[in-house]
Amino acid sequence: MSAPRLNQTTGPKYTRILAMGAARGSIDVPNDDLVGPINSSDEWIRQRTGIITRKRAPHDVLAVDLATDAAREAVEASGVDPALIDLVLIATISNVQQTPSMSAVVADRIGANPAAAYDLNAACAGYTYAIAQADALIRAGVAHYAVVVGAEKLSDVVDGTDRSISFLLADGAGAAVIGPSDEPGISPTVWGSDGAKADSVGMDHTLVEFRDGEAAWPTLRQDGPVVFRWAVWEMAKVAKQAIEAAGITADDLSAFIPHQANMRIVDELAKQLKLSKGVTIARDIETTGNTSAASIPLAAHRLLTEHPELSGTLALQIGFGAGLVFGAQVVVLP
Ligand SMILES: CC(C)(COP(=O)(O)OP(=O)(O)OC[C@H]1O[C@@H](n2cnc3c(N)ncnc32)[C@H](O)[C@@H]1OP(=O)(O)O)[C@@H](O)C(=O)NCCC(=O)NCCS
Repeated sequence: MSAPRLNQTTGPKYTRILAMGAARGSIDVPNDDLVGPINSSDEWIRQRTGIITRKRAPHDVLAVDLATDAAREAVEASGVDPALIDLVLIATISNVQQTPSMSAVVADRIGANPAAAYDLNAACAGYTYAIAQADALIRAGVAHYAVVVGAEKLSDVVDGTDRSISFLLADGAGAAVIGPSDEPGISPTVWGSDGAKADSVGMDHTLVEFRDGEAAWPTLRQDGPVVFRWAVWEMAKVAKQAIEAAGITADDLSAFIPHQANMRIVDELAKQLKLSKGVTIARDIETTGNTSAASIPLAAHRLLTEHPELSGTLALQIGFGAGLVFGAQVVVLP
């Protein structure tokens, strides 16, 4: 006897980003405020990273609060009734509570309760991972409208005496509303990982070591030159694969929005992709700093604010970081 036939869903053929939102830490922290304990200088940080100042949030503002503000703006701008949002994904590495997830709290705060909600940890590639999931889940008919957020309060996991990464890090959240579309709006995602390089960037201690008094509060560390070389060489290949998977050429792009890790990485990737002069390159790192999962949506939001003419055109976005992990896709800007 055969089993009764099951329902299995399929959804719309295409999806797109409908609108975006952003929230940056409210405090400007210039290089000079950080250089003392790391024996560095404003000049060194500017030359090596392109950062002049970074955004950090006050003590009483948590990553979940930044995520809420960014998500609210995106939902309002999209015009989608929050009650129709049935998926909330937050990419983050800096939730100071292991559980509950930030996404369940944010779903409730923005009026999307009882949306499916979960956080995902893919570090600086987290936003591109979450976009890939929202796109796939909507096209599978599992969700209808999704809010995707990258949210970090990295100042909670910074050691001000660390020379390897502390001066890069910042606080903020960027959000996108994803929904059905008549035309393709999100290309196939090229994504992956290299756990053999797990030690090259991440937390310096476990929470268990901290609990047992064997280590200080865990903070971020990296082997800068290793990550730098990987980002420049391997990520250029991934970016080229994403352009090819999208069925376009680099000449079809109007914007390039790489993870804001270091301005030298941004410039090197743009050079290797041979982007034409007409392509607008996101350089939000200069005044925002590196906000990990939030950096791509923050940079995209800023590009759209400063260059509204980019709306409806193609942007390549690529994230890469701790894991190591990476993700890239081409999107139609909202
Ligand atoms: C961190 C980073 C800015 C360091 O820049 P770098 O050019 O690689 O610097 P190096 O580590 O090779 O060090 C070069 C010199 O600067 C010194 N230096 C290192 N950190 C310094 C600091 N914070 N301030 C001042 N000097 C510093 C080193 O001692 C070294 O001095 P020496 O030449 O006298 O030996 C860079 O490696 C980087 O951005 N890496 C990738 C970042 C990234 O994408 N991270 C992923 C997580 S998102």
